Amino acid sequence: MSQPILTMRGISKRFPGVKALEEVDFELYPGEVHALMGENGAGKSTLMKILSGVYAPTEGTIRLKGRDVVFHNPMNAQRQGVSIIHQEFNLFPNLSAAENIYIDRPDITGRFGFIKWPKLVREAQALIDSIGGGIDVRREVQHLGVHSQQVVEIAKALSFRADVLIMDEPSATLPENEVQNMFEVVRRLRHQGVAIVYVSHRMKEIFEIADKVTVLRDGKKIDTRPIGEVTEQKLIRMMVGKEVGNLYPVRITEGQPQQVLQVDEMSLDASHKVSFELHKGEILGLFGLVGSGTHTVAERLFGLRKGTGDVYILGKKVRIGSPLEAISHKVAYVPPDRHRQGLIKPMTICQNLSLNLLKDYTKGMLLDRKRVKQVSETYMQKLRVKAPNDQHIVDFLSGGNQQKVVLGKWLATEPNILILEEPTRGVDVGAKAEIYQIIHQLAEGGLSILLISSEMPEVIGMSDRILVMHKGEFVHEFRRGEVDQEQLLKRASNPRLHEEAVP
Ligand SMILES: Nc1ncnc2c1ncn2[C@@H]1O[C@H](COP(=O)(O)OP(=O)(O)OP(=O)(O)O)[C@@H](O)[C@H]1O
Ligand SMILES: [Mg+2]
Repeated sequence: MSQPILTMRGISKRFPGVKALEEVDFELYPGEVHALMGENGAGKSTLMKILSGVYAPTEGTIRLKGRDVVFHNPMNAQRQGVSIIHQEFNLFPNLSAAENIYIDRPDITGRFGFIKWPKLVREAQALIDSIGGGIDVRREVQHLGVHSQQVVEIAKALSFRADVLIMDEPSATLPENEVQNMFEVVRRLRHQGVAIVYVSHRMKEIFEIADKVTVLRDGKKIDTRPIGEVTEQKLIRMMVGKEVGNLYPVRITEGQPQQVLQVDEMSLDASHKVSFELHKGEILGLFGLVGSGTHTVAERLFGLRKGTGDVYILGKKVRIGSPLEAISHKVAYVPPDRHRQGLIKPMTICQNLSLNLLKDYTKGMLLDRKRVKQVSETYMQKLRVKAPNDQHIVDFLSGGNQQKVVLGKWLATEPNILILEEPTRGVDVGAKAEIYQIIHQLAEGGLSILLISSEMPEVIGMSDRILVMHKGEFVHEFRRGEVDQEQLLKRASNPRLHEEAVP
């Protein structure tokens, strides 16, 4: 057995009112992919931020390549060989992808500090292409989609020669084919002897890529095991501390339900239109590969994008030209990208949860604080947001808990139609089961839900009907129980496939 390249000993971290880590030991060996798992708020990102120089530990030591080290900041850690891909993007939106990748790098400036642009663009493009990103690095980051931004973030971390590479939920916003590309890169780095920490809530990925797994629970280390020694069930038990029952609630749907939403020839772009219906208490899944148009459907329905076509809600023709109009028709939208659209991070949980209610809860000039408080506490509890209280600043919540606040903020508007896009992205298994239960109960209570997700098990497990999209069109409809992942993927990637097979 070789020597560990990195040893963290007795790491503790306290934030005001929160003990995020307690005497955690963590070891990394060269050429291993080490998965780090645990529930939302277990301390994964905090441990990795300490390892990458973002935070100083309250207690504990770090040894890297046989020497005790103290990282003063991320730059300092990077120079010593520890690079991190953050869970929350750290990109400058108004700079190009290339600039983001090579920002602050002495080796690309020539004499007198002039930046060697052609070299920068060339190298950045080569790096992106090696991950298979298909992105023009000269484009500004703000004009890139979420998953392209993720690719830029990965490329940025790879641009340093790292001995230790930390990937904090790198796949959360990546579609399946790009996850595979990323794994290729990870395997290559492992082969070169890089030690990789891989943080993810996706079991499938852990078993595919990891050699070892360490589980944290409530800031404490539970265990480190070779991946061959654990099963999914075992891991869940280590993380949650108990068994998690069925992930998907049993749904029984019956009869001719009332139509709540009717969409007629709604344009997605110049050449594509869609029509569909949504019923009372129905969970309608929308599935398609990247670029299929599912996201556009959501944006059109919520008034974030303009176009032609008719929308009827409860039989009445409505105009949804802006999110405000959508909200006034009791349509809510939980967007896939919580950073840009979902949350105001410097504000408290309570303020975020009640953001959409302020109009309704204002009497004269006065805000009904008691009602706001009540709503905020209800949803915090319902979604089990992990924080000392609802006055906690959202920015200080763990990634998964931020996702719960986004969800709560829209649930609190008590909508008739709820559009959910990637509702469990970055959420741990236990919380996932809770969120599914909540979605299920909402549907039982008569809420109509449009569920857009790239996670096939989620769409299949939750939806009463699934509309499959391909290049801006609905190509197939499945009913509950009619479909498995293989069929769904086939339809989404090649809609004509089935017709060809049938003579
Ligand atoms: N800057 C901060 N200030 C205050 N509390 C913080 C801060 N950063 C993290 N915490 C708290 O520390 C705990 C651990 O958070 P951390 O982000 O490490 O969780 P995580 O395991 O990465 O979770 P997730 O899976 O949701 O990303 C949480 O209770 C979180 O609210
Ligand atoms: Mg985290």
